[in-house]
Amino acid sequence: MRPVVAVTRRLPAPVEARLTSALTTAVDARLNADDRPLDADGLADALATADAVLCTVTDRIDAAVFAEAARRAPDGRPRAGLLANFGVGVNHIDLEAARAHGVAVTNTPGVLTDDTADVAIALMLMAARRLGEGERELRAGRWSGWRPTHLLGTSLTGATLGIVGFGRIGQAVARRAHHGFGMPVRYLNPSARDAEAAAVGATRCGTLAELLTTSDVVSLHCPATPATRHLIDAAALAHARPGAILVNTARGDVVDADALADALRAGRLAAAGLDVYEGEPRVPPALLALENVVLLPHLGSATVRTRRAMGDRALDNLEAFLAGRTPPDRVI
Ligand code: DGY
Repeated sequence: MRPVVAVTRRLPAPVEARLTSALTTAVDARLNADDRPLDADGLADALATADAVLCTVTDRIDAAVFAEAARRAPDGRPRAGLLANFGVGVNHIDLEAARAHGVAVTNTPGVLTDDTADVAIALMLMAARRLGEGERELRAGRWSGWRPTHLLGTSLTGATLGIVGFGRIGQAVARRAHHGFGMPVRYLNPSARDAEAAAVGATRCGTLAELLTTSDVVSLHCPATPATRHLIDAAALAHARPGAILVNTARGDVVDADALADALRAGRLAAAGLDVYEGEPRVPPALLALENVVLLPHLGSATVRTRRAMGDRALDNLEAFLAGRTPPDRVI
């Protein structure tokens, strides 16, 4: 019997084609034709009835889902031995529960680094230069022409950038900021090696407070974990430089959106640029009501090339697992 692979969302066409026709080990692929996110029941069903599940950031696979999948499976454990995540962040999967139920988890590191870093830089520019405000004004027919005092923003060139989380994406942002905009870079990450930092002219900060008090622009690139949930809260924002800019392309959970909205409304922060939100796709109404925040719909890795590369990487992991080999990008 061919192994069953459940796929929770539509994937780029070449990736679905590879899955249905060209994997070394032929599989019975169960695709999600209408592309609606699966609810807890659908996810438990996938884990209970497929040998592997290809999932995405929209699948909240918590302990209850694993427990329900185990309850439904004939031998009391999920049939699926692998969750191959299409994406690098795995905070939507309860890793402890996955481990306890014998389900391995893989991700797709590396392939989305540059595109995500590009969006972080785009958000910095949009927020600092008030480009979203300008576009909204023009499209609404409110532009009355050039004038010396119109929509004056902040220069990015030469501003100090503080990076929280100095992994692949944080370093790619540092390179762009340092070499492209002459930005001095500071970073916070206990495990980053100084050699990596020196290559992009970055200096280490000992604490988040130190990073916030010394940075004009702060860009978040740490994973969402219990330790980083609401890392940027009211107390942290109190350390930010007056007129600073916050950019988040990591995960919404890292920022307390109410505290951020308060700081933006009070003018303590000049602006923010966000690509991610806690509880996506809901966007906090307090942020939607503000002009000085740029809001993107989680587009960090959204290019044709990168989404295909993410799919290929997820399939490489799946293929290795089905062939009895260790998947290359095993998280647990
Ligand atoms: C990632 O890879 O984590 C992106 O945010 C999409 O999930």
